[in-house]
This record gives sequence, C-alpha cells and structure tokens, in this order.
Amino acid sequence: MVTRALKILHGSCRSSRNWRLRGERTAAIRALFFSTTTTNDEDQQRRPFNKDKRLSFVQPPNPTWDYGNGGDPSTKVEHQHLNEEEAEAVLRRRWNMDHTSSKEKYALLSAAISPRPLALVSTVSNTGAANLALFSYFSLVSHNPAMLSLSLGLPRETRENILSTRQFTVNVVDETFIEAAHSASIALPSYVDEWVLSGLSKESGKLVRPTLVKESPMGMECELYSFQDICLPNSSEIATTIVLGSIKYLHIRSDVLDDSEEMVDPVKFRAVGRLGGESYARLIEAFDLPHPSRKLEDDRYNGLLG
Ligand SMILES: Cc1cc2nc3c(=O)[nH]c(=O)nc-3n(C[C@H](O)[C@H](O)[C@H](O)COP(=O)(O)O)c2cc1C
Repeated sequence: MVTRALKILHGSCRSSRNWRLRGERTAAIRALFFSTTTTNDEDQQRRPFNKDKRLSFVQPPNPTWDYGNGGDPSTKVEHQHLNEEEAEAVLRRRWNMDHTSSKEKYALLSAAISPRPLALVSTVSNTGAANLALFSYFSLVSHNPAMLSLSLGLPRETRENILSTRQFTVNVVDETFIEAAHSASIALPSYVDEWVLSGLSKESGKLVRPTLVKESPMGMECELYSFQDICLPNSSEIATTIVLGSIKYLHIRSDVLDDSEEMVDPVKFRAVGRLGGESYARLIEAFDLPHPSRKLEDDRYNGLLG
C-alpha cells in the first residue's frame, strides 16, 4: 500500500518544475511513511480484534433506580477526612481554557467528549478533483429538518470544497473499513487522491456531485445550509469553520436494517467511535431505558415533589 501511495505521489508531480510542489511531495512522503510503518509494541501484545463479536443487550447499570435516588452510591468518592480547601485541590483538577495550550486542550477535550461518530466526508473541488477526509467533530443537529454539523479546522480542503461547491457527502465509518477511513486523515497535498490511497470505492448519489463511499453502511448527500467561521479570541484569524449541512438523501445498506426495514439495527450497524489520543471504540454492550412518560411516571415521583 505504501509503495502504491508513493507511486501516486511520484507520478503526480514527477514533471513539476515547481519547487514548492516538490517540497510538499517530500513532506507528504514523510508523513505517509511515518504514519503507516510505525508499529506499536503495545498493539502487538493486545488480543486481536474479534470480528465475530457483536453488540449484546444487558440490564441497565442500576435496575432498581427510582426518582430522587441520584447516582450510584457505591461509586461515591469519600474524602471526609479532607477540609474544604484540601478537597477542592484533590477532588478535581481544573483548567482555565484561556491559559491552556492548544495541544493540551485537544488532548483533554477530544478524550473527554467521546465517543464521537466518525464522518468520512467526500467533496469535489471547483476543478472537479475529488477529496476524501475523516472528521470526528461531527454531529446530528436536527432530524426535522434533517441537518448535521461538521467542524473543520484550517486549512482543510474539505472546507474550501464545501464553501465553493455547497455539496458534500457524509459517510459513517464502521468496523469493516476503519483503517481505510483513517488513511484519509493524512494532511496531503491536493494532487493526492485519497480515494486511491484508501482503496475505498465510489458510489454515485442521487443529487450531489461528490460520491458516496460504497463500503459505508450509511451515507448522506448534503447541501451546505450555512457556515460560521470561528476566530481565536482577540484575533481575526479563522481557527475553525462550523458547517451546517442539510441532509437531502439518506442511503442505508439493507443488511444493517432491522426486520421492519424502517430502523437501523444496532447489532448489525457496527459504527466506530472516536475516543481521545489514538483510540477508537466499538459498541459491545447496550442497555435500554424506556423513555420516561409523564403519564406513566407521575405516580412514582409525585411523592417526592410534595
Ligand atoms: C479520527 C480523526 C478525526 C478528525 N477529526 C477532525 C475534525 O473533526 N475536524 C478537523 O478539522 N480535522 C479533523 N481531523 C484531521 C483531518 O482528518 C485531516 O486534517 C485531513 O487531512 C483533512 O483533509 P482535507 O484537508 O482534505 O480536508 C481528524 C483526524 C482524525 C485521525
């Protein structure tokens, strides 16, 4: 795979007399080489990924919980021997975001606000060049209207393409192609085709020009609804752009639907979540908490409210 990628890079600017492009090519090769050939000793000692493992349903954590009970008492941290000042220092560490480095904020926030779904975003530039990139600052904003959000740091080709063409597709990443999707997170020059590098396949949509990812169990054709640039405090430098996308078409593979074919079956839909650092998560256990209905629950909590 590395050899193939290097060929792409070499071929794409072999004849270039542009030294900036040549420099970019060298940087790209370095990035590619280091990110795909380093082996992690810890990984070698871990159990192999069990492809047969599926999500199973268990009881909720506290099946006897009742209104007013609060959190699980067995998990309460007791620090009665500490005075208020000591407890303040021991029980939590605090970070003032104004005095925390970008690197530290990334490490803290991306690990704490997790797991996040992964969006493999396909776009096309004004000149027709296809681009594929992986994002985890991705969320469902609303189902009616159907809308999602992406948060794109700068510089991102994806941002430029979405702002200029107003079209993109978002493809949910599952266990079957996580490594290929991950390869679309290398910051490479625009002449590198992430589709070739990842080995993923294109599938035409119904409405927008950027293709869907065939391997993905769920793809969404989107149009730009609006965007908001966000600058660093006291600066006019754009740090991030939030993109709101109207979901125009939803494509879900039949084999991840339940018997009614109206719902995604969580056991069949094996989406991967992003944790912090270099970690990803899969869903192995789930539990149900019936949606509390005021009608049915009134009697249970009325006593509490006096
Ligand atoms: C798991 C993962 C999640 C990422 N999420 C984001 C994200 O939400 N926003 C972002 O700007 N970059 C994110 N990145 C970095 C982009 O994938 C990377 O910068 C990529 O090269 C962007 O490609 P583009 O310039 O073609 O748009 C993420 C990288 C990884 C590995």
